[in-house]
Amino acid sequence: MSIKKQQDPLIVIASNRGPFSFKQEKDNRFSVDRGAGGLVTALGALAERHEVIWVAAAMNDGDRAWSEAHKGKMQKVEGINLKLVEPEPEAYEGYYNEIANPLLWFIQHQLWDIPRTPSISEETWKAWDEGYRVVNKQFAEAIAEAVADSERPIIVLPQDYHLYMVPHYLRDLLGERVQIQPFIHIPWPGPDAWRILPQPIRNAILSSLLEADRVGFQTAKDAFNFVQTCRFYLEGAHSHGRRDGIEYKGRDVAALAYPISIDVDKVEEIAAETVTQLEKNQLINFIGDRDLILRVDRIEPSKNNLRGLQAYRTLLESYPEHRGKVQMLALLVPSRLKVGEYEDYLREIMAEAGLINAQYSTSFWEPVRIVLGDNYQRAIAAMQIYDVLLVNPIADGMNLVAKEGVLVNNKDGVLLLSEFAGAYYELGEEALTVSPFDVYGTAEAMHQALVMPAAERQHRAQTLRDIVTRADVREWFKAQVDDALRALSNQANKSSTPATSDTEKSAVAATSAGAPAD
Ligand code: G6P
Repeated sequence: MSIKKQQDPLIVIASNRGPFSFKQEKDNRFSVDRGAGGLVTALGALAERHEVIWVAAAMNDGDRAWSEAHKGKMQKVEGINLKLVEPEPEAYEGYYNEIANPLLWFIQHQLWDIPRTPSISEETWKAWDEGYRVVNKQFAEAIAEAVADSERPIIVLPQDYHLYMVPHYLRDLLGERVQIQPFIHIPWPGPDAWRILPQPIRNAILSSLLEADRVGFQTAKDAFNFVQTCRFYLEGAHSHGRRDGIEYKGRDVAALAYPISIDVDKVEEIAAETVTQLEKNQLINFIGDRDLILRVDRIEPSKNNLRGLQAYRTLLESYPEHRGKVQMLALLVPSRLKVGEYEDYLREIMAEAGLINAQYSTSFWEPVRIVLGDNYQRAIAAMQIYDVLLVNPIADGMNLVAKEGVLVNNKDGVLLLSEFAGAYYELGEEALTVSPFDVYGTAEAMHQALVMPAAERQHRAQTLRDIVTRADVREWFKAQVDDALRALSNQANKSSTPATSDTEKSAVAATSAGAPAD
């Protein structure tokens, strides 16, 4: 089959949080900060290397003022073509603080205490109809506007659970000339977890995602769960025995795993920066010759910060020999504090840490130090010197801290990793793996890590470093874009050759790269 020579595609990233956050200064000029969080860090690295359009939401007054100052038009900022969507504050509130966080986030991380929560109320329905759907439609319109003048093939990559309805609205606006390929950064649980959503909302989300060309997930397990969820709830959806694709209303949609990673060069560069080294020296002074147990997370129920502290308390109870010789440092980034559950969770963490310190502190030793704030250099500095890195989420799409940690650590530190983090599939063999619910088991694993012979630590740490170095985030992006390009080229060939059989059609989905077997 002859492959037509293609033009370079126009790549559009769409995500709720954009790569920058703007602040209007007194002289009316705008200062620019990098947006926070794993998603933005990973995509930001890519946008620096490829010509992309990035559509994101204006999340604060500074963003809105910046967008208005440019009459809502796309602007180039630090090499990125940026367009901000400006939802009405009330619509945004419903979309972000009612539906995306907590409703969808809590379902997908299975955090609801289901005898009591959630209660789907009239407010929830309003937030869905007048918030989530409206903002998703605005995103689709902004994308369509941004690509309107282009003759090039178009690939749109909507990111994450904020934008589940974008494929539906975008297909409506642009038809089949666009490849739509959402990537879902967070876990996709099996069908049972989705019963919490009212049927019309659930079906709207699933059928919108099936208007995409393929849907990307962190692991093969998430992709498989998605296929099962669609089969279970959508009448007429068939997988024909496949684990990585589904047919619905005449479309054959692949569900594939593209495990995300980190920008290895960039993280190493940051680790070597003077500021990072200064942070590191301060931390070394603070820790002295104690063993460091470190965690770096957003304050987030799914991260399981609380049970991590309970495990540390159990360690101090069960193994008195570690008292005074170990230091727990938790670098916690405040997050989504407008959602009540997050505020309560922060309070519980502080109370637990206070109790441990009250019980075990001496004049020379404070067992737990919690530092709140968002300081990436400080986090990378601490990762360089941990003896044990605790990553124990209840559920996590990937967890990039685990990858950053093993890359920059230079003490042959041990990774304690939850079996429910996506990173488990790549790093689990050389980590000490724990059930996030098993406080006792986590304390035992902490002890095992602290007394592990040097040779074993060295071997595990080196192997983990090698794994992460090989899987750079560029691979993650490339695998997705390659799949979209292959589909575009198949489409082009199809339109220049008479007929394509059904078998050939599903072969296109099945040969898509980047999907490691279960
Ligand atoms: C974390 C998750 C991402 C998610 C992001 C949103 O980084 O891993 O999947 O998109 O949070 O966070 P935000 O602070 O923008 O609500």
